[in-house]
Order: sequence, then C-alpha cells, then structure tokens
Amino acid sequence: MASQALSAKVVCAGSRRWRAAAAKLRPGPATGLKELHLMENTAQWTTALWLDFDPLDNMNRELMARLAQAQAASDAELPQAWADLVAHVAMHFGQEDTWMRETGHGRADAHALEHRVVLNLLREGVGQIRQGELEPVRQMARELGSWFARHTHAFDAGLALHLRRHSLS
Ligand SMILES: [Fe+2]
Repeated sequence: MASQALSAKVVCAGSRRWRAAAAKLRPGPATGLKELHLMENTAQWTTALWLDFDPLDNMNRELMARLAQAQAASDAELPQAWADLVAHVAMHFGQEDTWMRETGHGRADAHALEHRVVLNLLREGVGQIRQGELEPVRQMARELGSWFARHTHAFDAGLALHLRRHSLS
C-alpha cells in the first residue's frame, strides 16, 4: 500500500508539473485545461494540423507518429520509444529555431521559449524512466498531443506562413 501511495504522489506531482508548465505556456483563453483533457490520447496527425508548408508538415506528422508509438509502448518498449520521441523533438524544435533565426521571424523568442520548456520536460522523462518512474512519463505522453495542437495553432502556423512568404521573396 505504501508503495502505491508513493506511486500516486509521483504521478500527481509529475502531472501537476506538466500541467503547470503547459498552463504557463498557454497562449490564450481558448486553450484551457478542459480542452487539454478533451484532447488527451489523440496522438494522430489530422488535417487540422496542416500548415501548407511541407517541411513543417512532414516533421509534425513524424512527431505525432513517434508520440503514438510512445503512448502504445509496453513498459519494456517505453525507454526506446521515449528516447526516439525526444530525439525527434530536439531535431524538430532545433530546425524551427534555426529557420526563425535565419529568416528574422518576429515571434521567435516566445516560440523558442515554448520549445525549450517542453523539450526540457521531455528530457526529464528520460531520467524518470531510468529510475523506473514510468507513470509520469506516460502522463506526459497522454498530454503532449493536446499541447502540440495548441502550439501548432499558436506558433507553428504563423511560422509556416512566414516561411512560405520568405521562400517566395
Ligand atoms: Fe514550434
């Protein structure tokens, strides 16, 4: 029972931490916690995430595919699936940050800050898995899809528009 209680605390702490970070990053009133709950467990690319900029759309599809793999992973598979997800996210966010820097995108600071905060949380998950704390990581996996949908609409859509214009000029 004691270990179950401890486990519940770890889950709650991990979940609270993620939600607190997500709340700080929340871009507007239309993206509240209710929406986040509704969108949990939806690691699937849909046309609602389409940005009409292939380099970004391709990375977004891959992110959702890797997230789906992490969500479906068994305990034995989770370390590799999570490592693959983190590696993709690091590359993905790094590429967006580079595009923003190189093209002088106006919202680069806030956008890059979201990338940094979320990537740090995902990297902490690697350490949690090493310590056998799988549930907080699974909670992050459940909630990342909804965060990503918000992020795509709040930031990536503007970046895609900027990059389309930039590549035309
Ligand atoms: Fe982004």
